[in-house]
Amino acid sequence: MCGIIACIADDRAAPILLEGLKRVEYRGYDSAGVATIGRDGILVKKDVGKIAQIEARQKLSLLDGRIGVAHTRWATHGGVTKRNAHPHTSCNELVAIAHNGIIKNYLKLKKELELKGHKFKSETDSEVIAHLLEEEYKRLRNPTRATASAARKLEGQYAFVALFQGRGDLLTGARNDAPLLVGLSERKRFLASDVLAFIEHTDRVIFMDNLEVVTVTDKDVRISDLSGKEVRKEVTQIAWELADVSKLDYAHYTLKEIEEQPSTLHRALIQEEEKLASFVEVLKSSDSVFLTGAGSSFHAALVLKHRLNIEARIRADAVVAGEFASQSHFMNRNSTVVAISQSGETADVLEAVKVARSKGARVLSIVNAVGSSLVSAGDHALHLNCGPEVGVAATKSFTAQLAIIGLVLDSLTGKETSLNGESLARRVKETLAVRERARALAKRYRHRPDFYFIGRSVHYPIALEGALKLKELSYIHAEGMPASELKHGTLALIEEGTPVVVLNPGDETYDDTLSNAHELKARGAEVIGITDRANKLYTHTISVPHVAESVMPILEVIPLQFLAYYTALERKNNPDYPRNLAKSVTVK
Ligand code: F6R
Repeated sequence: MCGIIACIADDRAAPILLEGLKRVEYRGYDSAGVATIGRDGILVKKDVGKIAQIEARQKLSLLDGRIGVAHTRWATHGGVTKRNAHPHTSCNELVAIAHNGIIKNYLKLKKELELKGHKFKSETDSEVIAHLLEEEYKRLRNPTRATASAARKLEGQYAFVALFQGRGDLLTGARNDAPLLVGLSERKRFLASDVLAFIEHTDRVIFMDNLEVVTVTDKDVRISDLSGKEVRKEVTQIAWELADVSKLDYAHYTLKEIEEQPSTLHRALIQEEEKLASFVEVLKSSDSVFLTGAGSSFHAALVLKHRLNIEARIRADAVVAGEFASQSHFMNRNSTVVAISQSGETADVLEAVKVARSKGARVLSIVNAVGSSLVSAGDHALHLNCGPEVGVAATKSFTAQLAIIGLVLDSLTGKETSLNGESLARRVKETLAVRERARALAKRYRHRPDFYFIGRSVHYPIALEGALKLKELSYIHAEGMPASELKHGTLALIEEGTPVVVLNPGDETYDDTLSNAHELKARGAEVIGITDRANKLYTHTISVPHVAESVMPILEVIPLQFLAYYTALERKNNPDYPRNLAKSVTVK
């Protein structure tokens, strides 16, 4: 969703900001803009559309000044219009701001500001921040104190960055429940919502916490709480290589991220023993365990639930993050919530964690983004270590989540580990050979209106994941379901030629799932078997290597990722930026 990048550069800021905007494009947006402080004051250019189109029309990169802020907007309050795009300025252009989040009390603040003579130009909630800052700045004559004072009046979720007319030497910002971080290079300073926005300039980062205010100058970074009390912060070195955020020679990030899974899985399995032990200890000592996540991360939670129930005999409930509040009555100090998230910033997941905290429950997280809000909100975090995931559809992060779940289970059950990094990487590499087969199927079925995915036990969440990937990238209607549920309605929808993906490895679910495949075939379906035990029944077979049952979900999702990717290409969709989707869903 929305992205912010601001910088103090040693030369013109606008080209750097434009590059930063391109780096956060993957989050999803519908308009963008840049504001700088030029010789004659604050300059703003913004518009609707893609960044390349806006640059072609408005020439954002030509703005003058060595300090500025840029934003990609995902519309929430107010339509997709140039006026509503950020940055927003106060009435006399004394202040320019870019904001992520939602200001809940904006109507009240707007009324108060209008009574003081402020004239609003947009329909957004964000614009109140610019006017409020102007009022506070006129009163306090100090940008830092003005920012803290304005932040104290805001209710809701925010990360914002501000520029002040006549103060071409500084940026201020504040956060509450939305990410904001400081990037430090030798000659430049950054404030951004996402490390990727400035990763080509520096890997040295300060993560801000909620209700903190930052002032950045050439020489100094000062962070304080909202009362003005200084807070000491650590500088963290992000372990991401620039290569991790570049497409290299791949046509799309999504393809690169699917193909790099041998190495990302290998890395996911490298966890500090102590951290893993503390994580597992909390699970062992809990009276009740709740699992949550959204989208693909929720599918990983379903895999964890299955494995905790069956292998570790720990009763766990998995509840999608947006519905998590319903569980609050069953939580207490002896409960544990495991929250799974790639970004660590999904609003529903953070809300679920708040609910858990309010009941005194402990919170464990499995998360990719180091320094994300979820990491700070929890007691113990295990990191996916899979590097930045730029493609909107989760691919390598999902398999990394499954790998970490495997480590947790091995440690809980005390079994000899089924997850050796090198052998897993080898198996995954072998599985990548299904690429051409998946591409051929994508071509064959590209015009079909519906697709079904079925599987039993731990393969059922993978069926859900396959359907989600296909919907997201190809825009074809797809449903994932337990194989057993077919008879309870869905068979009525099967017609001559309907493609059904059947996840059917040779484990104890094999025979039952094969019977379901027979039923489908008898009704005209074209059955695509994903399996390590071939059968003549399948119209098409995608063979995956034979591995332990617990590892199979990691392998069998790979053909489904390729199928979604190539179907998107066949249908002329951009798989990296599917329509209407945001990488990180930071509003409820
Ligand atoms: C699916 C996808 C989304 C995310 C969901 C959760 O391909 O990308 O459905 O899985 O938005 O995001 P995180 O894991 O960042 O909490």
